[in-house]
Amino acid sequence: MNWLISAFGLNQSSATIDFGCGPGLYTQRLKKQGIGTVVGLDFSQNSLEYAGQQAEQANLNIEFHRGNYLDYHDSRQFDLITLVMCDLCALNPSQRSRLLGKFKSMLNPNGVIALVVYTSTRFEKQAEAISLARNAMNGFWSAQDYWCIQSSFLYSPELVTLDKYVICEEQREWSVYNWLQHFTHDMLSNELELHDLAIQATYGDLRGNPWVDGDEMAVVIGHK
Ligand SMILES: C[S@@+](CC[C@H](N)C(=O)[O-])C[C@H]1O[C@@H](n2cnc3c(N)ncnc32)[C@H](O)[C@@H]1O
Repeated sequence: MNWLISAFGLNQSSATIDFGCGPGLYTQRLKKQGIGTVVGLDFSQNSLEYAGQQAEQANLNIEFHRGNYLDYHDSRQFDLITLVMCDLCALNPSQRSRLLGKFKSMLNPNGVIALVVYTSTRFEKQAEAISLARNAMNGFWSAQDYWCIQSSFLYSPELVTLDKYVICEEQREWSVYNWLQHFTHDMLSNELELHDLAIQATYGDLRGNPWVDGDEMAVVIGHK
């Protein structure tokens, strides 16, 4: 956060918005550093309740909105828009396009979008596989005992992975599909270009560390 603030000259007259703010770690850090308007969006009631309590305890005036950020409307323009933890990668192509169009309309003329994506390097390390395990992922899927069948699929030219989980409990069986898009620099640039946005710089992370080929790539995006 400190790096984003200093690299982009944010101050008490700046406005920032965090898409998928979760428990509000980024929003809190920004507000503590004296940023004027700080907005956080999330559809998780639990996360936002926690974020709101933390902000209140620290006496930080942060604006939180609950709902699907794909439907969020705001006529203000922001100096910094963040979408961290590779959340863009969980969206399908039309959702990404919708979100990038929104970013474009909400970005100040000199504003930046900071986000992190999974890379083709990560994709190359993935393998197709199937496994069966009892209470897989340390009981993550249910408080009841269950069996979990996990199948992993790769879609090669598209750089998409799918992890499909079938969870079988005594009384019910249900499935979760976890799709992830991976990006090369060019693939991301092409998607951005459709919205008149462009990558200004690539980093290893959002602390400003230099880019080295790895599983994740942080990018700073601006108007084209
Ligand atoms: C991986 S977490 C990251 C949380 C936070 N940014 C952090 O770094 O601690 C993703 C967050 O995005 C939220 N989220 C995912 N899709 C969303 C959507 N379509 N609308 C609103 N929130 C969403 C989830 O509820 C979750 O809190």
